[in-house]
Amino acid sequence: MNDNNKKIAFVSGGSKGIGLAIVLKMLDENYQIITCGRNIDAWNRAVAENPRLNEVDFIKTDLCGNGQLNKLFAKIKKKYGRLDAAVNNAAVQILAKGQFTDISEDILRKNLDCDLWMPTMCIKKELELMLPAGGSIVNISSISGVIPTPGAAMYSAAKYGLEGLTKTLALELIDKNIRLNTVAPGAIMTPRWEKRVQEQDREETFASVAAAIPIKRFGIPEEVANGVLWLLSDEASYVIGHTLIIDGGISLRGNV
Ligand SMILES: NC(=O)c1ccc[n+]([C@@H]2O[C@H](COP(=O)([O-])OP(=O)(O)OC[C@H]3O[C@@H](n4cnc5c(N)ncnc54)[C@H](OP(=O)(O)O)[C@@H]3O)[C@@H](O)[C@H]2O)c1
Repeated sequence: MNDNNKKIAFVSGGSKGIGLAIVLKMLDENYQIITCGRNIDAWNRAVAENPRLNEVDFIKTDLCGNGQLNKLFAKIKKKYGRLDAAVNNAAVQILAKGQFTDISEDILRKNLDCDLWMPTMCIKKELELMLPAGGSIVNISSISGVIPTPGAAMYSAAKYGLEGLTKTLALELIDKNIRLNTVAPGAIMTPRWEKRVQEQDREETFASVAAAIPIKRFGIPEEVANGVLWLLSDEASYVIGHTLIIDGGISLRGNV
């Protein structure tokens, strides 16, 4: 499976939504891809719908806590020896929703762990596998990491943190031939949204969200993946610590 002419890339959370669209586009660009998720059934469903995903190395892993993250990167190191590219995309459903004052410390902590500490530890391990040759990393942030998001304060704080980490590391690593950037999506139609509206009137909720977006529709995962692929590529060789907002105009209004 390890063809030395291929760029080796890790994409976290490639079984669904934005991560799946990124993996499919990276296959078109001839990357050797390693991805992960907690649920093997979700991955098997994706492979059944897109048989070319058989070329992708899926390693069942919960990146949030309990030491599985280190094991995943040890496996990548043993099998491939290096990484040329990485996309830190995986994130659980927003955990701490509602008024900050009403949310328990445990939930706030878990939200921070999964939305900031988890990608932080991935970046640390990815850098070990990119040095000294260099590489390109794209972190999936959110417009909640660029503008305040009442009702999701901890998620917003975690994504602002990811933005700050990316920009700072982009400068720290600029002379090591490693570029780091973020993509900040707005409302993108993925399984995450399907879960979010489970207990509401689906069509009505989707229509009211779409109506509030300046472009009057949700984004699709491929529209985010296009930006990620460009930032990863040599075409973006002079782009350092940038936030590429892909949100149909939401952030221009200054609120979510
Ligand atoms: N969709 C949006 O509107 C939107 C907007 C702004 C930002 N974003 C950001 O875009 C990224 C992707 O979102 P999405 O909407 O595509 O989400 P999604 O549809 O829920 O997919 C998330 C992916 O991550 C994996 N994952 C979740 N938790 C994991 C864990 N602990 N360990 C390993 N893998 C895990 C999931 O697989 P398993 O469930 O099998 O683990 C799945 O493959 C996230 O960083 C999110 O914050 C999304």
